[in-house]
Amino acid sequence: PVITYHLNDGSTREVETPVGGRVMQTALSNNVPGIIGECGGQAMCATCHVYVREEFLDRLPPVSDDEEEMLDVTAAKRDPVRSRLGCQIALDSEDERLEVDVPEVQV
Ligand code: FES
Repeated sequence: PVITYHLNDGSTREVETPVGGRVMQTALSNNVPGIIGECGGQAMCATCHVYVREEFLDRLPPVSDDEEEMLDVTAAKRDPVRSRLGCQIALDSEDERLEVDVPEVQV
């Protein structure tokens, strides 16, 4: 799987992740800036907030109650459709691709 991160400075980082890799953890292990992941992926901090690009939205799992609560307290403005927690999004198949926009701030 490949995740493309569109950064706030206009640059793009494209990184490979193993099957099951998550948006937050993949960013951290590849030094992609702008994603913090303070709680370690427990849906308890909202510092892994990303905006998922429209064309990938229908491939995502539904928002859980915990994720919903955290999305209400993101540092950057929540987008009603595209905002998700990066720690809650995994790429499940070998050929999966995902593109996200990294918000301006996380705290
Ligand atoms: Fe804390 Fe995702 S890493 S909510």
